[in-house]
Amino acid sequence: MSIFDGKNNAFTFGVASAAYQIEGGVAEGGRGPSIWDTFSHEIGKTKNGDNGDIACDHFHRWAQDLDLMRDLNIQSYRFSLSWSRLQPTGRGQLNPQGVTFYRNLISGMHERGIRPFVTIYHWDLPQPLQDLGGWPARETALRFEEFVRLLIPALGDLASDWITINEPWCVAYLGHSWGIQAPGIKDDDLAIRVAHHVLLAHGLALKAFRELLPSARVGISNILSNVEPKSQSSDDLAAAGLLDARMNRLFLDPLYLGAYSDSVYLAFEHNGLNREPSVTELVQPGDLEIISAECDFVGINHYHNIVASADASVPDGIRMEQAEPNHQSSWGWPNTPWAIGKILDRVHGEYSKLPIYITENGITLDDYADPNGDVKDADRIDFLAGYIAEVLAATRRQIPVLGYFAWSFTDNFEWAEGFSKRFGLVYVDYPTQRRIPKQSALWYSELIQKHNEKEIPN
Ligand code: FCB
Repeated sequence: MSIFDGKNNAFTFGVASAAYQIEGGVAEGGRGPSIWDTFSHEIGKTKNGDNGDIACDHFHRWAQDLDLMRDLNIQSYRFSLSWSRLQPTGRGQLNPQGVTFYRNLISGMHERGIRPFVTIYHWDLPQPLQDLGGWPARETALRFEEFVRLLIPALGDLASDWITINEPWCVAYLGHSWGIQAPGIKDDDLAIRVAHHVLLAHGLALKAFRELLPSARVGISNILSNVEPKSQSSDDLAAAGLLDARMNRLFLDPLYLGAYSDSVYLAFEHNGLNREPSVTELVQPGDLEIISAECDFVGINHYHNIVASADASVPDGIRMEQAEPNHQSSWGWPNTPWAIGKILDRVHGEYSKLPIYITENGITLDDYADPNGDVKDADRIDFLAGYIAEVLAATRRQIPVLGYFAWSFTDNFEWAEGFSKRFGLVYVDYPTQRRIPKQSALWYSELIQKHNEKEIPN
């Protein structure tokens, strides 16, 4: 059956989150430690020393959070599973308390008419697997497959839409090259190993679904950035090409074209990405077939629009600037909706005719509750309106985009930035854990309602 048959053909409006960013309850329900527990408790790794011990306390407040989602007309919820909650040591039988937590959570979505999109891995590797070598070790991809093979009988009856991995680029490069995310390593030769092993883990998980739950719809979410040269000079063109290879093509080429391309080898051969598969090297015989097996949809997370130029004064010779600095955003990330349109054209034109979901997109602002208790975030409404309009415009160009997920449902633990960045549609007052829907949440809710009533055509 094609994904276009039946009710799943309808465009869905959702919200997204990730386990470590919201759950808290880190020492409850038999959960084991993950690399994010370790990293966030190391001095100096996160802003203000923030950690996810409590976060949004979603572990205890999930039912109220789902109620709020339903009240806001949210149609789909993309959330992630904590591997450490389900398999505390990264090996062996699943933890029954973890299974119960997620069964209750997903059943709670169905009770409220919310469609679950389950992300299996959103960055929180069990610490015991890190101790055995982490993602630089091929073995970790095999552990992931084993985990997925246990997960499918435990939760597979409750959800149809599955995302294997969130943002391999961040896992590999923020975690193992820039060192600003867990596990905090700075080694480009390890980072390329991570990239390949995470892709392999995706492919092995997909294979497990095909064997154990063929009805599941499975994809992977990559963070895709628009990259353009600052000028048409050959140096700037080369800089942009290299950056595009590192950030986008390293993942898109093997997943959707079945091979690492020349531009990717140019960027990574010196780090150990071997051209000829070999049992003694990183890319082994059969890996690319596993990685490129056809998915059911393409997941795209989008935040960045980068202008690249050659500049000998920066460490690797490539200067990166946001295309249009956005002073509204507390991170300066751009508000250039046209970039998401270009990425959709590119993915559909050059990579895959599969249905597409925008599995994350959003903006962080310096939100606060005013004396009346309102959170007025007009800049977020402006941002969302622009990007959603571009996405719907793409559907009119016959690009099969089937959904948009705002990042994020609530404010949450923004990794190394701690609680200093607020991406939510719903404000969280952390000391009291009170949730306050921002104006953007009410706006999004109305948009969904109008869309349902067909006032807004696709
Ligand atoms: C993405 C992550 C998500 C969140 C947003 C702002 O890269 O997937 O967890 O941090 O950025």
